[in-house]
Amino acid sequence: MCGELLVQGSKNAALPMLAAMLLAEGVYILHHCPQITDVDHMLELLTDAGCLTRREGHMLIVDTRGADRCSLKGSGAGKMRAGVTLLGSMLGRMHAVEIPYPGGCTIGKRPIDLHLKALGQMGAVFEHREHTLSGYAEKLHGADISLDFPSVGATENILMAATLAEGRTVIRGAAREPEIAALAGFLQKMGAHIEGTGTSVIRVEGVERLHAAEYIVPSDRIVAGTYLLGAVMTGGEIRLLHVPTAHLGILPRILTELGAEVFLKEEQDEIAVKMERRTRAIPYLATAPFPDFPTDLQSALMAALSMAAGPSFLEEKIFEARFQIVPELRRMGARIYEEDSLAVIEGEARLRGAQVEARELRGGAALIMAALAAEGKTVISGMEFVKRGYEDIQGDLKKLGIVLH
Ligand code: UD1
Repeated sequence: MCGELLVQGSKNAALPMLAAMLLAEGVYILHHCPQITDVDHMLELLTDAGCLTRREGHMLIVDTRGADRCSLKGSGAGKMRAGVTLLGSMLGRMHAVEIPYPGGCTIGKRPIDLHLKALGQMGAVFEHREHTLSGYAEKLHGADISLDFPSVGATENILMAATLAEGRTVIRGAAREPEIAALAGFLQKMGAHIEGTGTSVIRVEGVERLHAAEYIVPSDRIVAGTYLLGAVMTGGEIRLLHVPTAHLGILPRILTELGAEVFLKEEQDEIAVKMERRTRAIPYLATAPFPDFPTDLQSALMAALSMAAGPSFLEEKIFEARFQIVPELRRMGARIYEEDSLAVIEGEARLRGAQVEARELRGGAALIMAALAAEGKTVISGMEFVKRGYEDIQGDLKKLGIVLH
């Protein structure tokens, strides 16, 4: 892998921004919006609500002036997790919401109890039917909410609901992921009063009304991380542009531990890596909320560690079903054993091409990186999962000197 790449816009930042658009009537413009199927599904839901949407390359225009339907039947929400963030925005402005049960990758149970409890504290009442979830709130009011776990989605939902709620909302134990700050930045441009994003205590002062805004979606730190780990696996040298380096958390340190040389240019939002030695093992690493190692890069790291000089232990602490890549990597020659949330990666593998299956988004992208490092041909099925979050992985890799068929 060798070359330079401008990284696509962030899926996890763009999706809640699209949900937030229902908080105010007007015409929104989102720049650097990734062309991925999860965005298409969210747009289906916005259309269902009565919005008009238009894409011009990476610019997205959404007119919410006709949005008056709070019962969304579209299959979009059933296909992806982020549909749940419509709860906060629709309760905020329309005072009612009905969505199909949220889907997403099958990486664990993915409950939404924290979302419902917090919105309940703000005055919402929910009703569960077989396939749909309905919520009502005559008037949302501010509340002092303590999250038992810094859930990204729950923090986003509360943030959105709080912007139009009466009075002040405090979120304690809030998620600190960069996508929260991005959503807050967007909401602030819409006229919201928010303080403390990036910390675990966020304060929101409700306002009477918000207005439409224009915003630039930040680059996708997980897509960036996937390619950086791909460069480590292939002994490459790549430079990624337009990546806010602060969004990468501890990833640059982990890349160094793996044996790569890492060059960060914070002012220019650039990161480069060069890998000239054998991958080093990492004795133990656990996934954890930002700024620690993200669960979304766990499978790509596992693929890299399978080739390392020595054993590594990886613990998955966020989602319980996130080792679905293990049998596929084994098929490619990796020696990995899993027990509950712990994976033991023996290392020393010379990966070889095989017929493998992507079973979820991030695992699928990790398999592509493994395939680049493997000897011989790998055929990967299930690419529809990868398209949920990677706009054009084939085109990106071409820019990094690799041709996929
Ligand atoms: C978001 C990201 C996903 C990322 C994850 C963790 C989007 C669209 N998705 O997912 O890519 O992997 O953050 O960084 O932004 N939990 C509960 N009850 C709840 C909510 C969550 O128990 O009500 C648990 C989950 O089961 C999981 C953990 O909390 O074990 C983290 O979930 P959360 O941070 O909410 O992740 P998502 O917002 O679903």
